[in-house]
Amino acid sequence: MAFASHNYALPIFLSVLALIPFEGTCGSHLNHNYRRDRRNPSPKSLHFTLFQHETTNKTGFVIVNGVEGSEGKSETSTPFGSLFVFQDPLTAKANRSSKQLGTAEGTSITSGLDGLSSISVAKLTLRVKNHKGSISIVGGTNSLERSDYPVVGGTEDFLFVHGYVTSSPLDVKATTVVYKIGFHLYWPPYPPLAS
Ligand SMILES: *[C@@H]1O[C@H](CO)[C@@H](O)[C@H](O)[C@H]1NC(C)=O
Ligand SMILES: *[C@@H]1O[C@H](CO)[C@@H](O)[C@H](O)[C@H]1NC(C)=O
Repeated sequence: MAFASHNYALPIFLSVLALIPFEGTCGSHLNHNYRRDRRNPSPKSLHFTLFQHETTNKTGFVIVNGVEGSEGKSETSTPFGSLFVFQDPLTAKANRSSKQLGTAEGTSITSGLDGLSSISVAKLTLRVKNHKGSISIVGGTNSLERSDYPVVGGTEDFLFVHGYVTSSPLDVKATTVVYKIGFHLYWPPYPPLAS
């Protein structure tokens, strides 16, 4: 037993020594972050919700009818290949009379053979929370469920943003479909500009 514990003591001693340089690296890493944070503002993000109002034949139109005979069974399905274009207001609340804070311009092409899913591209022009500019989103739309779209970039105050936008239809049977749009925007911490 005594021999065994003597043998164990050496590895323990060595591992304590091994920890010292590791802790040193940790310390300088923290210092490095601290210095970088003093030069750059902390990582920035913005989260908010808007409501999109879409009225068929008023703010959204089917431009190309898609492949004949490929209509799905559901009321909300559209023929494969249908091209839909929209310019919809984005308001602060679900009530259309609430303050307009943006516009969504985009297009959707029915890409599911069952007529229930599309590929969508949109530019969302915003004036919200002291930020003015646009973000661009692209992704798949499911006509009945929540859809998530990656943010591929932005302009003006939204330059360099990434993140995602969620879109949930609140009532698909009404003449005007209202979508609840959740914005989750993040500005990456790019290195400071070279002087
Ligand atoms: C929209 O207009 C098209 C073409 O005039 C028509 O076939 C369709 O029924 C209209 N849809 C609605 C919901 O008004
Ligand atoms: C929407 O807002 C208008 C104006 O503020 C108001 O008159 C109306 O009752 C609201 N509608 C609903 C459904 O809350």
